[in-house]
Amino acid sequence: MKLVFWHWFFLFFVLVSTSQGMSSDGLALLALSKSLVLPSSIRSNWSASDATPCAWNGVGCNGRNRVISLDLSSSEVEGFIGPEIGRLKYLQILILSGNNISGLIPPELGNCSMLEQLDLSQNLLSGSIPASMGNLKKSSALSLYYNSFNGTIPEELFKNQFLEQVYLNGNQLSGSIPFSVGEMTSLKALWVHENMLSGVLPSSIGNCTKLEELYLLDNQLSGSLPETLSEIKGLKFFDATNNSFTGEIPFSFEKNCKLEIFILSFNYIKGEIPSWLGNCRSLQQLGFVNNSLSGKIPNSIGLLSNLTYLLLSQNSLSGPIPPEISNCRLLQWLELDANQLEGTVPEFGNLVNLKRLDLSHNILHGSIPPNICSRKTLRYLNLESNRLNGSIPHDLVLECQSLERLILRDNNLSGSIM
Ligand SMILES: *[C@@H]1O[C@H](CO)[C@@H](O)[C@H](O)[C@H]1NC(C)=O
Ligand SMILES: *[C@@H]1O[C@H](CO)[C@@H](O)[C@H](O)[C@H]1NC(C)=O
Ligand SMILES: *[C@@H]1O[C@H](CO)[C@@H](O)[C@H](O)[C@H]1NC(C)=O
Ligand SMILES: *[C@@H]1O[C@H](CO)[C@@H](O)[C@H](O)[C@H]1NC(C)=O
Ligand SMILES: *[C@@H]1O[C@H](CO)[C@@H](O)[C@H](O)[C@H]1NC(C)=O
Ligand SMILES: *[C@@H]1O[C@H](CO)[C@@H](O)[C@H](O)[C@H]1NC(C)=O
Ligand SMILES: *[C@@H]1O[C@H](CO)[C@@H](O)[C@H](O)[C@H]1NC(C)=O
Ligand SMILES: *[C@@H]1O[C@H](CO)[C@@H](O)[C@H](O)[C@H]1NC(C)=O
Ligand SMILES: *[C@@H]1O[C@H](CO)[C@@H](O)[C@H](O)[C@H]1NC(C)=O
Ligand SMILES: *[C@@H]1O[C@H](CO)[C@@H](O)[C@H](O)[C@H]1NC(C)=O
Repeated sequence: MKLVFWHWFFLFFVLVSTSQGMSSDGLALLALSKSLVLPSSIRSNWSASDATPCAWNGVGCNGRNRVISLDLSSSEVEGFIGPEIGRLKYLQILILSGNNISGLIPPELGNCSMLEQLDLSQNLLSGSIPASMGNLKKSSALSLYYNSFNGTIPEELFKNQFLEQVYLNGNQLSGSIPFSVGEMTSLKALWVHENMLSGVLPSSIGNCTKLEELYLLDNQLSGSLPETLSEIKGLKFFDATNNSFTGEIPFSFEKNCKLEIFILSFNYIKGEIPSWLGNCRSLQQLGFVNNSLSGKIPNSIGLLSNLTYLLLSQNSLSGPIPPEISNCRLLQWLELDANQLEGTVPEFGNLVNLKRLDLSHNILHGSIPPNICSRKTLRYLNLESNRLNGSIPHDLVLECQSLERLILRDNNLSGSIM
């Protein structure tokens, strides 16, 4: 009797386990594919009769047939991400970028606690970023850029010491940058540009000592930039264009400055251009257009031998244009217009790559230097509204074939154009 019972039990067990042929990860993926609309080229291969999903298009497994990666980037996927995603307990890599996926991020995504790399960029996702994503404690890369996420950045999201890359740009995120930003001590890149973020840049950012890329442009951030930025010695790219930052530039990089791009254009920054910028020998782009900067342009700018863009237009800078600028031999764009610069136009004969020179709307006097287009690279020259006199140099008119626009009106120039 006992033997018969065990016999039946065994048979029952066999029947149940074979009818459940597909692994639990495979079942989760099949459930996921009910809301996530896969193109037939991918879906054709996701067969319920397989024992594991490990050979399915886009799916990767570990040695024990657990799904560790799902990569469906740029595959014309539509629909939305269902809560079943949270059942993929071993998932390390989830890449769904460049598709037409809409709807919300399900909070269950936070259950994929092994996730290291998450890329949902360039889709049609909306709603807020769920706070449960703060549970993804192992993640090192988070890409949510170019979607339509709104609401605030959850404080929890940044409580992660392994996150190295955070790309949230190109959404409609509002509210402030959480103070917990300082807990991302491994952070290398923080891209939050093109959102509606407001409030200050938290001083805790100074704890992100490995940060190299900080993109804040096109938001509504305000207040003074934090002094603690001085702690981020390896900062290479810092662009805060088109915000409402006020106050002076309170941080400094005295030694081994690594800045390559430093742009604060279209803010309300006042005070002087810091002379420590001369330590930033790798600087390629310096832009402070449309602020309230005053004082002189520091001579130390002339030490920046890799500088290609120097854009200081629309401030209240005074004093002479430092002749040392002609040491910046790679300079292509030099725009100092709409300031109160005085003195003469320096000899720029060394600037053998110069394409665009705008010194308009200043109080420069003296004559136009004869060699201003000596290397025939100049395309745009604007000296409008100064106090220049003397004649227009012959070679500028006759030999500067590269020149496309020449604006000299509102000066005291004499002689003819021919
Ligand atoms: C699914 O397609 C991929 C590539 O097209 C192939 O490598 C894989 O073996 C296929 N899997 C199954 C289960 O047929
Ligand atoms: C998204 O859908 C639009 C309209 O159907 C289509 O033109 C576009 O190619 C799709 N984009 C992607 C990445 O699948
Ligand atoms: C999965 O995520 C949801 C939403 O965040 C949560 O309520 C639930 O407890 C989680 N389940 C497990 C098993 O972790
Ligand atoms: C986010 O957008 C949705 C519509 O997509 C809207 O219903 C919701 O109120 C918005 N939330 C916030 C905080 O703006
Ligand atoms: C980060 O920096 C702030 C101020 O700069 C400090 O008060 C805080 O304790 C630091 N630590 C963390 C983990 O944010
Ligand atoms: C400045 O940023 C806002 C978003 O805060 C954006 O709407 C606007 O177009 C930007 N202005 C320019 C000139 O790019
Ligand atoms: C200047 O640029 C060149 C070429 O990109 C690079 O090799 C060099 O290291 C740069 N100089 C400095 C001081 O960064
Ligand atoms: C800065 O830009 C604003 C808006 O474009 C403009 O009204 C203002 O005159 C500019 N400031 C200077 C100093 O040119
Ligand atoms: C041009 O020169 C005349 C006479 O020297 C002077 O009165 C006038 O202010 C000058 N104009 C400009 C724009 O500097
Ligand atoms: C230009 O103006 C200065 C005074 O500002 C004068 O000394 C000089 O002679 C003028 N040069 C010419 C060529 O008119």
